[in-house]
Amino acid sequence: MLEVKNISKTFNPGTVNEVNALQNISFKLEEGSFVCVLGTNGSGKSTMLNAVAGAFEVDTGSISLKGQDITQWSENKRAALVGRVFQNPFSGTAPNMSIRENLALASRRGLIRGLSWGLSQSLIREFKERVKPLNMGLEDRLENPIGKLSGGQRQVLTLLMATWLQPELLLLDEHTAALDPKTAALVIALTDKIVQKDKLTTLMVTHSMQQAVNLGNRVIMMHRGQIAYDFNEDDKRRLKVNDLLSLFDELRRKDQIDMGVMELVINEYV
Ligand SMILES: Nc1ncnc2c1ncn2[C@@H]1O[C@H](COP(=O)(O)OP(=O)(O)O)[C@@H](O)[C@H]1O
Ligand SMILES: [Mg+2]
Repeated sequence: MLEVKNISKTFNPGTVNEVNALQNISFKLEEGSFVCVLGTNGSGKSTMLNAVAGAFEVDTGSISLKGQDITQWSENKRAALVGRVFQNPFSGTAPNMSIRENLALASRRGLIRGLSWGLSQSLIREFKERVKPLNMGLEDRLENPIGKLSGGQRQVLTLLMATWLQPELLLLDEHTAALDPKTAALVIALTDKIVQKDKLTTLMVTHSMQQAVNLGNRVIMMHRGQIAYDFNEDDKRRLKVNDLLSLFDELRRKDQIDMGVMELVINEYV
């Protein structure tokens, strides 16, 4: 379904700011799998999602989706198959435009794929029906500028727009990290409902071990631009928050040892 083969990405190569953000990463996602991606800050989670979405060209490797090699596809072309929601509630929407205008724009540029202007009335009716049960008042705010909505309302809107016509792949990058716990829980519940209902193949980056334990059927833990652990469905069923915490500790300890070794080496040369 999604196959990532040996992808690497180095930012600012050959400079003092060189970062090997992705180091020869490979994985396959079965159709309908819901993967939680964990990892320390800077471990390459966002870069991995961005590589799949086509935000930049990878240095090595290939990416295929539904059997098509999309490695050379532009981000725009991939957007027809890939839905995305970021941490920043402003991404993916135009802040000065109303909900109604954003929906219309999304439908025109193919974000809500296949819907033409003529269908926008039924689109708006369906939108209202879908947001009403959330009790966030979104159904009464169609003329409101997106910028005036709360972070939670914006994330719900972006999530609905990203998943409206069942993308082949859904990429969520800490999409609840900027929200208060109650709103985050609501957006997570909606995410789970949508992903389950439409059996969407999903990569969800989260910093919440609890979310990683509760949601989806696979957990990938990244570290220094590589996949450090990959728990399949059976392993994941047994996985507890404490197990994940110990693995994080272990990786951190390894880092500290490596840093210590570096210092020793540096000291030897000065
Ligand atoms: N556009 C970029 N230019 C330079 N460095 C980047 C860029 N994007 C990410 N990085 C670096 O790549 C590493 C991985 O970043 P990122 O994928 O954002 O980590 P994560 O999402 O796991 O916190 C970090 O060291 C980060 O500073
Ligand atoms: Mg990130």
